[in-house]
Amino acid sequence: MTESTPAQSLLNINALLDNPVFAGGFGLASLGAALAFARRGALTTAGMIRRRMLVNVEISQQDPAYPWILAWLSEPRPQTSFLAKRLTRINKLSVSTATSSTPNGATKASFFLQPGYGRHIVKYKHAYIAVSREKQSTAKTNTGEPHETVELTTLYAHRHIFEDIFTEARGLALQANEGKTVVYSVRNFDWVPLGEPRRKRPLGSVILDEGVKEGIVNDARDFLERRQWYVDRGIPYRRGYLLYGPPGSGKTSFIQALAGELDFSVAMINLSEVGVTDDKLAFLLTKLPERTIVLLEDADSAFVNRRKRDADGYGGATVTFSGLLNALDGLSASEERIAFLTTNHVELLDPALIRPGRVDMTVRIGEATRYQAAQMWDRFYGDIDTDGSNRERFLARLDGLGLFVDLNEGEALPRTSTAAIQGLFLFNKNDMEGAIAMAEGLIPPKLEAEK
Ligand SMILES: Nc1ncnc2c1ncn2[C@@H]1O[C@H](COP(=O)(O)OP(=O)(O)O)[C@@H](O)[C@H]1O
Ligand SMILES: [Mg+2]
Repeated sequence: MTESTPAQSLLNINALLDNPVFAGGFGLASLGAALAFARRGALTTAGMIRRRMLVNVEISQQDPAYPWILAWLSEPRPQTSFLAKRLTRINKLSVSTATSSTPNGATKASFFLQPGYGRHIVKYKHAYIAVSREKQSTAKTNTGEPHETVELTTLYAHRHIFEDIFTEARGLALQANEGKTVVYSVRNFDWVPLGEPRRKRPLGSVILDEGVKEGIVNDARDFLERRQWYVDRGIPYRRGYLLYGPPGSGKTSFIQALAGELDFSVAMINLSEVGVTDDKLAFLLTKLPERTIVLLEDADSAFVNRRKRDADGYGGATVTFSGLLNALDGLSASEERIAFLTTNHVELLDPALIRPGRVDMTVRIGEATRYQAAQMWDRFYGDIDTDGSNRERFLARLDGLGLFVDLNEGEALPRTSTAAIQGLFLFNKNDMEGAIAMAEGLIPPKLEAEK
């Protein structure tokens, strides 16, 4: 393609003006063509100037900085100068809604305003920055949505402003998550925050048996302080924990509280879910967000599936045993990570799992003990049961129900869960008598198989 410069185009027009035929339609048509030509020349020049004088950064939706930059752009920046005020108003906004449920079950929605698609101008410090947020119709993300980018353009002379912007945007993001725990879950092949970041769950609100919590917390802290030790010895910097026990004993809650305590996020994936394949698991573990505990729930399903597969050739899209081991410490495993595995069926697990780097620490989180029941009572009624006399009555009642009798091999005595005790106390807020009277309800109902 031949490009014309504006000078040449102008010459063409001058030549045309001298042309006697110009009066006719032919001339008019030529003028139109010539003007179009001239315009193209001017555009080319403008493009050249742009390329020389401007710098731009493109941030793709896939980049961790993408949400930070959108949030940064929606920060109010009151401008004082006449020009800045008129130029930098963002008129087109898009809304992003996050819903979350409060502990009492109500649903809460919050709205974040972001600059919408299209072009905007912002002024930051002394620099004007053109912002262009676009949906690319050609490229698709893993989730099948159109790929999005934000492009920031400023004068070459102001290029250093970008560093400041990214630093400030990251600072804002950290600030917004302060005191919060981000929980990521899987959407297709990506980790996406599950609702809004939640307020950190205090460790004290999860009541495990005596010393159990401290044991895990100290181990994790110790691990976090020993990075250099691992590096010096060429050992992958990984630690794995397996928490097992009946449902409703506080495994998941504890891991979330621990993440808050250590200032980590949680990336949660349920291995029993159909669609979580070996490849997918391995891939996801290589791209964990920074400072994140990975939580593999229902680890037993990897083993169950193996049996099913052996038994009836079942080949559903689920994680296999070797897939799980590979994800934990195979070649595709990430160099650094803390993993928690949970299961309600430890008897299904394979001992090969208990290996340094795969699972370093195994802890049973069991049915409620007397110690836990007492602690939970104090958390709920401590302020009104000042002398603890009602707590003793409650515990005596549970003793009477046989909930804490030592188990002998093979014996089937009723046990209860911490989740059930919490349920009882929630039902009887500020009503100690009610809680004691209804204590019998803690005995799990016997479910009889239908004929
Ligand atoms: N030990 C515990 N201390 C405090 N709350 C508990 C405890 N165990 C269960 N709960 C409560 O019961 C519910 C279910 O607990 P969860 O952590 O999901 O149990 P798990 O993961 O062991 O099945 C949560 O609302 C949690 O707050
Ligand atoms: Mg759980």
